Amino acid sequence: MEPIANLNGEQMLLAEVKIPALDRGFLFGDAVYEVLRIYGGRPWLMEEHFERLARSLEAIRIHGVDLGRLRQRIIATIAAGPFVEATVYIQITRGVAPRSHTFPPSATPLEFLYVKEFHDTHFQNRQTGVAVITHPDIRWDRCDIKSTNLLGNLLAAQAAKEAGCPEALLYLPDGTLTEGTHTSFFSVWENSLLTTPASNAVLPGITRNLVLRLAARAGIPVREQRLRRDDLGNVSELFLTGTTSEIVPIIRVDDRRIGDGRPGPVTRKMQEAYREAVQEFVSGR
Ligand code: PDD
Repeated sequence: MEPIANLNGEQMLLAEVKIPALDRGFLFGDAVYEVLRIYGGRPWLMEEHFERLARSLEAIRIHGVDLGRLRQRIIATIAAGPFVEATVYIQITRGVAPRSHTFPPSATPLEFLYVKEFHDTHFQNRQTGVAVITHPDIRWDRCDIKSTNLLGNLLAAQAAKEAGCPEALLYLPDGTLTEGTHTSFFSVWENSLLTTPASNAVLPGITRNLVLRLAARAGIPVREQRLRRDDLGNVSELFLTGTTSEIVPIIRVDDRRIGDGRPGPVTRKMQEAYREAVQEFVSGR
């Protein structure tokens, strides 16, 4: 099925969408975005994604977007497929204006979204686990904003791909690991689950937050604590989380094997809890 889009309220095929050349999202990356997963025809964790979108819009001072209306457009676009297993991409830009670095006095935000069938390319990785590389985190100081300015992420993701890996873990000059290029990460250290504390250095991942809740419910101790590159030798498990990845075990980082080189028991437990949560959602329980 062809992806279906909605541009400023008008539904059309994604292939037919035309964005004006002077749109500030195109010229400057003056835009924020979200990616949601649709399970069984319904948007998963919609409330959380919309809260984060509202925060991102506020952070870059894009005002006047009717988020209730945007939600209705998403529901209508999913129904137009109808889509069952899919993703929704949403992007809001500051709009069209003569090119100038400062904000235009009156521009109307551009509201774009599309829904696309999801073919799960992560399935095998979730079973076997993956190798990742570490890479310097050369991004800016507001990685908590889900901005479309992603060059720092893209360069690291490409370095990972060229090393034969699906992801890179990013590290700051002092060796602190922040997150993946498009995922959050967790480690298991002395039977506790650790993840990077929420700060301006990382995106507050929706899947990360869900995993924190699921772990607490399963009685697994969780700590929001920084991990350094040097600490990787001390962790027994490591995994990635993200909207489309879900939970992917990491079995090797650079040349270092993690644990016994196979997905560990805490990772498996969290994958199971995640699956159960999705099943509950899909069956409407
Ligand atoms: N990536 N960290 C970064 C830098 C991300 O871009 C993402 C999401 C995550 C995980 O967040 P969440 O659990 O909310 O998906 C962490 C999206 C999916 C993307 O850019 O396609």
